[in-house]
Amino acid sequence: MRAEDNRKITETGPGTPGGAWMRRYWQPVALAEELDTDRPVVPPRVLGEDLVLFRNEDGTLGLVDRRCAHRGADLALGRLEDGGLRCYFHGWLYGPGGDCLDTPAEPEDSRLRSKVRIRSYPVRERNGIVWGFLGDLGEGVAPPELPSLDCFAAPEEYTFAFKGYLDCNWLQALEVGIDPAHASYLHRFERDEDTGDSYGKQFRNASLGTDLPMTKILREYGRPEILNARTEYGQRIVALRRLDKDGMDGSSTHVRITHQVFPHGITIPLSATMAITQWHVPIDDLSCYWYAMFTSLDEPVDRATMRAQRLDGITLPDYKPVRNRANNYRFDPHEQRTQTYTGLGPDINVHDQMAVEGQGYIYDRTREKLSRSDRAIVTYRRMALRAIDTVAEGGSPDELLRDTADVESRGPIPLDGIGPTGEWERYWASSVADLRKASPWASGLRAALATGPAGVPGSDVEPDRSESTDAYASSES
Ligand code: FES
Ligand SMILES: [Fe+2]
Repeated sequence: MRAEDNRKITETGPGTPGGAWMRRYWQPVALAEELDTDRPVVPPRVLGEDLVLFRNEDGTLGLVDRRCAHRGADLALGRLEDGGLRCYFHGWLYGPGGDCLDTPAEPEDSRLRSKVRIRSYPVRERNGIVWGFLGDLGEGVAPPELPSLDCFAAPEEYTFAFKGYLDCNWLQALEVGIDPAHASYLHRFERDEDTGDSYGKQFRNASLGTDLPMTKILREYGRPEILNARTEYGQRIVALRRLDKDGMDGSSTHVRITHQVFPHGITIPLSATMAITQWHVPIDDLSCYWYAMFTSLDEPVDRATMRAQRLDGITLPDYKPVRNRANNYRFDPHEQRTQTYTGLGPDINVHDQMAVEGQGYIYDRTREKLSRSDRAIVTYRRMALRAIDTVAEGGSPDELLRDTADVESRGPIPLDGIGPTGEWERYWASSVADLRKASPWASGLRAALATGPAGVPGSDVEPDRSESTDAYASSES
């Protein structure tokens, strides 16, 4: 990749082309649980902007600039009162919309406050995550709705949200999520756990329709065939592992279907009935948060269990991993020889964290050697670079879902299962149709994705050109 393209695709601060592209989409800015305190005020940093998110007495959320308009004091430490956030320096009060409601140190007849505003952004709260729209909308223009993805359509009790900090650029965090081969190595466990004890854990279940633990399949079949296709929301990625060892005759194939959702999200299976949609939102160019929404098709999520599993590995209030660069991830060489590929314990989030932080703060993509297993990454970078150019030229990215919540669901629908070899599309459609029919909330949605992304033929796969360091030079039409 050219250095100039690497900069273009990784930098998202105000005024950058990548930042303008990102600002066409809703960004997760906080977990709703971060506001569950007697002073609901948090200071998110998003796309290089320092903001304050607060909930006033009547429940309205405000997402505003962190600096007071008067002389720049830090509103994150302001007084939450009188319907807004009041600066502790001279008492100026700001409402959730950024308007100045009071300037108590000014003369009684002062009209100053009617001329003062701080930057504020539209906010939505959905299924445990607070979203902000940081784009330029212009006076009186409403932001688009959140896209009609399953994770937003599901009732709140069928979802669970969590987040985690990564000490590197957001693109590294996304790219590990669209790389189906790494799971056979980075996440390898030498022993399989009882899959009955897998609730809430990634790669610890049995694949749909079988007793085979995912860990065994990933370990024994390290060369997946990867197919990818562009879709209206991003990309569908299919990893096929034909099962022909240990007495299996190759007539069945492990099928894992995941998705890239623009600009920085993925949707992947956790189990047969639970999906994870995860966004990788830049804090700034050197760090990011992943925000995950777990969505269950069949029953309400046991949030207490899932939260407890995840709280173990982080510190609050920043959701920073306990294992990190500073303590060498508590790497254990004995464990690496005998139990796991990484020597970092069982939490796959930590494995991914070490992989992506190990690439450096902003990975230098001018020096990499892309291989065939990187084809989804190659496709993503091409699509993203083109989208950035489109926005720079005043256009709208192709991969922008503008739905309101009542149109058909776009899924996207992931899968981890074992079906007849050579028939992954039919197998995907039929197993997904059964699961959705049985779902208390998804059965009513028109599931356009049961047979593939709406409007995108399954044959629209990427040509296999990724085994070349010039993968970007061969420009896409
Ligand atoms: S700096 Fe905020 S009121 Fe003066
Ligand atoms: Fe991973």
